[in-house]
Order: sequence, then structure tokens, then C-alpha cells
Amino acid sequence: MKGIGGRRGPEGYVGELYYRQYRSEVEDLGELMRLVEEELSEPADRVVYTFRYFVIEWPHLAFLVFPSTESRIPIGTIVCKQDDHRGRTNRGYIAMLSVDRGWRRRGIASRLIRMAIDEMTRRGAHEIVLETECDNSTSIALYESLGFMREKRLARFYSNGKDA
Ligand SMILES: CC(C)(COP(=O)(O)OP(=O)(O)OC[C@H]1O[C@@H](n2cnc3c(N)ncnc32)[C@H](O)[C@@H]1OP(=O)(O)O)[C@@H](O)C(=O)NCCC(=O)NCCS
Repeated sequence: MKGIGGRRGPEGYVGELYYRQYRSEVEDLGELMRLVEEELSEPADRVVYTFRYFVIEWPHLAFLVFPSTESRIPIGTIVCKQDDHRGRTNRGYIAMLSVDRGWRRRGIASRLIRMAIDEMTRRGAHEIVLETECDNSTSIALYESLGFMREKRLARFYSNGKDA
């Protein structure tokens, strides 16, 4: 797997951690959903629906990270899509991002985001966008640390009534 970027170990590895693209619903769906459902505020049924929407069309833009190649339990995931935005730009979109609580502040989310951006850029993305809850200071700090800029506030964007 190419495009991990920055400090690198052998292909696919960063230190002991093994990063890879999403493979299949049978192999990855359950664990990916567990990671996402644990942390995101959207209702589970919506997460399943949303998840399938993304990985069926853009399986190459979903990534998982494992503590080792032998492990079947991922500790982080990112799910994205990429399409033409109003006929004007090729837009990459980060839909879901989650890292297991026990593995945070080790650069895993940053690495997953960079991998997704590399893949979207390789496939012609002009811009990468995402939404996050307006009070998710962790996520905002993370994306700002990677150079993302705030563009819009979306009122009551989430089903819990929060702005994005
Ligand atoms: C947000 C989340 C994915 C970050 O994962 P992570 O692997 O811990 O992030 P990283 O280690 O790559 O952090 C990179 C940078 O982001 C910022 N950051 C991350 N967590 C932070 C925190 N708790 N407080 C302040 N800044 C933080 C820091 O700038 C950090 O760099 P540093 O550790 O050198 O200071 C993780 O906390 C998570 O899964 N949260 C719940 C789900 C969520 O909010 N997803 C995003 C919704 S869009």
C-alpha cells in the first residue's frame, strides 16, 4: 500500500501498526461499524445505511488500522467518498473517522486522514471537505493541525440538533 506518507515503516506498516484499505463487507463491516457506532452521535440504523452507501461505491477510500497483521480487531477507521461537485470541482469528502479510546494521541487519525487524502488526490481531488459537530473540539483541533480551514457553519445539521 503506497501513500502512507511521512515517517514510514515497510509498506502498510507504521511501527507495529498495520494500515490497509477496506476489503469486503464480510471481512470488515462488523468491526468498522463497531468503531464508528461507539463514537458518533448518529443513530445506529442511519450509520448502517450511510456506511453501505460509502463503502459499496468507494471501498478504496475506506481504511482500517490494526495493532498487528495477525489482529482482526481494528483500532481505527476512516470512510470517505469522492465525486464531482456541481460540475465544478472533484471533491473528496471525509464521512467517518474513529480511533479506539485506548489508542488515541499517537497520530493514528492523522495517518488515516493523510492516507485518504493521498488516495483522493491521486484520483484527481481538487479539494477535501468534511463536517464535524461544532463542539467537537478534539476533531476540530485534529483537522486544523492538518491544515483544514473552517468554511461554513451548518445550522442543526445533525439529528441531535447540533450545528456542524
Ligand atoms: C478525533 C479522533 C479521531 C482523533 O484521533 P487520534 O488518533 O487521537 O488523533 P491524532 O493522534 O492523530 O491527533 C493529531 C492531533 O489532533 C489534535 N488532537 C487530537 N486529540 C486531541 C485532544 N483530545 N485534544 C486536543 N487536541 C487533540 C492534536 O493537535 C493532535 O496532535 P498532538 O497529539 O501532536 O498534539 C479521536 O479522538 C476519536 O475517534 N474521537 C471520537 C470520534 C470523532 O470525534 N470523530 C471525528 C468526527 S468528524
